[in-house]
Amino acid sequence: MQFFTCSVFLLVVVSTVNGRPDFSDLPPGPYCAKLYPDCCSGRQDECNTPILDGVCYCDDFCDRYREEDCCPDFWSYCKGIEPNVTLPPPEETRRCFFQGKYYNHGQTLKNNCNICKCMGMGRVAEVLCEQNRCLQEPEIIDEINSNRFTSGWRARNYSEFWGRTLKEGVELRLGTLNPSRSVYRMHSVRRIYDPESLPREFDARSRWPREISDVNDQGWCGASWAVSTARVASDRFAVMSKGTDSVLLSAQHLLSCNNRGQQACSGGYLDRAWLYMRKFGLVDEDCYPWKGTNEQCKLRKRTDLKTAGCRPPTNPLRTELYKVGPAYRLGNETDIMYEILTSGPVQATMKVYQDFFSYESGIYEHTPSTESYQFGYHSVRIIGWGEDTSTYRHRGSPTKYWLVANSWSHQWGEDGFFRIQRGTNECDIESFVVAVWAKTV
Ligand SMILES: *[C@@H]1O[C@H](CO)[C@@H](O)[C@H](O)[C@H]1NC(C)=O
Ligand SMILES: *[C@@H]1O[C@H](CO)[C@@H](O)[C@H](O)[C@H]1NC(C)=O
Ligand SMILES: *[C@@H]1O[C@H](CO)[C@@H](O)[C@H](O)[C@H]1NC(C)=O
Repeated sequence: MQFFTCSVFLLVVVSTVNGRPDFSDLPPGPYCAKLYPDCCSGRQDECNTPILDGVCYCDDFCDRYREEDCCPDFWSYCKGIEPNVTLPPPEETRRCFFQGKYYNHGQTLKNNCNICKCMGMGRVAEVLCEQNRCLQEPEIIDEINSNRFTSGWRARNYSEFWGRTLKEGVELRLGTLNPSRSVYRMHSVRRIYDPESLPREFDARSRWPREISDVNDQGWCGASWAVSTARVASDRFAVMSKGTDSVLLSAQHLLSCNNRGQQACSGGYLDRAWLYMRKFGLVDEDCYPWKGTNEQCKLRKRTDLKTAGCRPPTNPLRTELYKVGPAYRLGNETDIMYEILTSGPVQATMKVYQDFFSYESGIYEHTPSTESYQFGYHSVRIIGWGEDTSTYRHRGSPTKYWLVANSWSHQWGEDGFFRIQRGTNECDIESFVVAVWAKTV
């Protein structure tokens, strides 16, 4: 009987999806579309075509009892019905949906400081990311800003810091090595004064409008040890000479030439920086401008301004480099205030945690919930202090603060400055305060 001779020769196991055969494993065809422009009506056993090791049919009969011997394109081509089969998408068309965008398989993307890749097995593809802690994280910024009535300061997203890891920030935006070891080697001084006589507010820029140096940017070089030393010394030369030795000293000179026991853009000790300045002195910024990179020292150790090739200084009496006396430590809040009031800005070292990088304005206080094992020490320049009567948070008394110059450009914080709680040793800022005497001529 013909019926039997022309029955199923398909040796492939065809599974069905939604009642329709699943031909996803078969060669794609075309079958009927190629041989039978009109397909075949009724039963026409010769209306077939080879497929794999057998034949498949393009007549209506194939669909009657045993749908599995119809050609794969029978429904779509002869009947105009798209088979409802879901093919697993080929690898290259598998895509990931991540933060509102599609990514192709294998594509990489950057999510803040982390590299991510769209990867997948089987039907699903997903984005897998590195797990670094980022220098700025939106959650931390939001958290600080949402409790600003209790915390007293605001945070923001800095494009300069976005996309960097916390590790990079700690290594390349700070840069002061073990301040306890460094600062406790210095002697502290005793000054006789009446703490009650200290003003409630003081800003060195108002007291010495032309003498106080501007905020600068250390860049991605962990050398706050050199930058803050040069700036504090500059201010003190100008203040102590009453303007005759007005100079901006070169931090690059320190960075490049004070290399014994120091680590250039990977950090330095303050006692070594001050000792270098005491023994050899520094040239001015114009003579040795800031580059913020580790470079070989271009000056001989024992030199004067002339042999160093610097332009003549404003003070005609000066021939040798700018040197200082021994650096000294200041023990407590009022000692620090008295020192700034009488002799100009001082150098302080503080512990910097992740939240500090996002400081925008207000009186900084570390947010304990953002605590992490990653922190570093950073040296800054305290130029004054004040009291904020708008925030009566501490049992009804105004919030006392230090006014501090940072070295992350004017774009950061309050025009490059920040205020931080005073009298509470916030982030250890009162533990390692140093000043120096400028050798004016
Ligand atoms: C395919 O099957 C699914 C689930 O049975 C159904 O929701 C969908 O409408 C079907 N699509 C077509 C084109 O028949
Ligand atoms: C932060 O700033 C960067 C660069 O300007 C931007 O790409 C990023 O989306 C910002 N992040 C947030 C959370 O606003
Ligand atoms: C700070 O130290 C000085 C001595 O250097 C001392 O006279 C003064 O009482 C101290 N002030 C406080 C608030 O401890």
